[in-house]
Amino acid sequence: MKLAIIGTGYVGLTTGTCFAEVGHHVICVDNNVSKVEALKKGKMPIYEPELEELILSNVSAGRLHFTTDLNEAVAKSDIIFIAVPTPPHEDGSVDLSYIEAVSQEIAQALKPEFGYRIIVDKSTVPVSTGGKVSQVIERYAQGAVDVDVVSNPEFLREGSAVKDLMHPDRVVIGADSQRAMDMMKRVYQPFDAPIVEVDLASAELIKHAANSFLALKISYINAVSAVCEKAGADVNLVAKGIGMDKRISAHFLNAGLGYGGSCFPKDVKGFIHIADQLGAPLNLLKEVETINAHQMTHFLDRVREKLWVLRNKKIAVWGIAFKQNTDDVRESVAVKMIKALCDEGAEVSAYDPKAMETGAAALEGYPVRFCPDLYSCAQDAEVIIVATEWKEFAMADFQRLRKLVRLPIIFDGRNLLNPDNVLYAGFEYHSVGRRSLYPETAEGLA
Ligand SMILES: NC(=O)c1ccc[n+]([C@@H]2O[C@H](COP(=O)([O-])OP(=O)(O)OC[C@H]3O[C@@H](n4cnc5c(N)ncnc54)[C@H](O)[C@@H]3O)[C@@H](O)[C@H]2O)c1
Repeated sequence: MKLAIIGTGYVGLTTGTCFAEVGHHVICVDNNVSKVEALKKGKMPIYEPELEELILSNVSAGRLHFTTDLNEAVAKSDIIFIAVPTPPHEDGSVDLSYIEAVSQEIAQALKPEFGYRIIVDKSTVPVSTGGKVSQVIERYAQGAVDVDVVSNPEFLREGSAVKDLMHPDRVVIGADSQRAMDMMKRVYQPFDAPIVEVDLASAELIKHAANSFLALKISYINAVSAVCEKAGADVNLVAKGIGMDKRISAHFLNAGLGYGGSCFPKDVKGFIHIADQLGAPLNLLKEVETINAHQMTHFLDRVREKLWVLRNKKIAVWGIAFKQNTDDVRESVAVKMIKALCDEGAEVSAYDPKAMETGAAALEGYPVRFCPDLYSCAQDAEVIIVATEWKEFAMADFQRLRKLVRLPIIFDGRNLLNPDNVLYAGFEYHSVGRRSLYPETAEGLA
């Protein structure tokens, strides 16, 4: 099928590429000229595992194209996906100005002689946005165009986006027209994934409800971790014990510094706002946000308690990205932590396997020493903080690190490290709700 994707970011680029991979003809549109130019030259604007090889092979197969020309893409495509940002406003409501702008552009590009077109909202939007997109199309199209608006929310996770798109748990299609639903099913037919066929409003709500539920799960285990800390229990063991219950599942039960990234914080906020507006408040999600914010402040309190005063202390932060396997630092807890440490006068060094460039941009103006590897980052450190769950950190040579640091103290904000390795090398190990292993076990191991 002939598809256009408007917005070539984390979602648009990976979705477009995977559509091309299964045989569709895809035109990816972006209004960022340098991004499109780079893509045309085979340069990747983001880091996402497996993506580069897929883009290059589909471009050379002639199935994947990049352009800034939305008119051309609309003229040549049967289905037009919108994958532009939907950031939060100050009050938590969703900023739909990108969606509105693209809808207008699509409307102006449509011509009655093109025949039937489907416009798909792939961005995460509040319920009832589809209706508003239809209205914009009707208002701004030149002549009577034959269009249906569909919702097809995206569930990919950065860091495993290609795998998630090629093998989705499910595909949600929300359409109020059978013709649109049938065509959308043909788009996804090569993926061999279960399709959830629903109305437009339900599809829009599914995305917000799903992300909010995942955030809720994270905040739940984080709240439990605080109880574990007080009770001398181990949150990892508690999570294992409850996660083996199929009704609960083991996913998203990792205690840590809380959720970040470009989706969960804004989607929880957005859902709270929508529910308030509809008169069905989701106070439960307000507590989810409170717990999430508390995770980092409580963690920093513990670091402060250990070092007494943070001013002039050398603190090595491992990880800048909001999670492993990505260079995305949007709403990253690691970035927030580095800023808080700098504000308190600490001397911060930082290292991330993939997010050095994006991290430096996000931390512009902060006196951070960016380091080429985790060892130089730890040089003379009085504390090492693990802020992102990169596997590389778990595999570090702690014996070597012990010789580099000034004080052997590790605060593992992601419960990532194997305490035995760390303690055996002579470090103090502090985590988020894991059973206290210092000093008794350290002595035992030594
Ligand atoms: N990132 C994720 O993991 C993820 C997962 C699921 C859903 N989503 C949702 O998908 C949407 C896009 O997210 P993203 O992370 O890909 O954003 P992004 O910022 O990475 O990419 C958006 C792209 O849209 C382009 N753009 C903006 N206005 C445009 C216009 N008028 N014409 C053409 N291009 C335009 C930008 O230049 C950018 O390249 C959001 O609603 C987000 O909530 C994101």
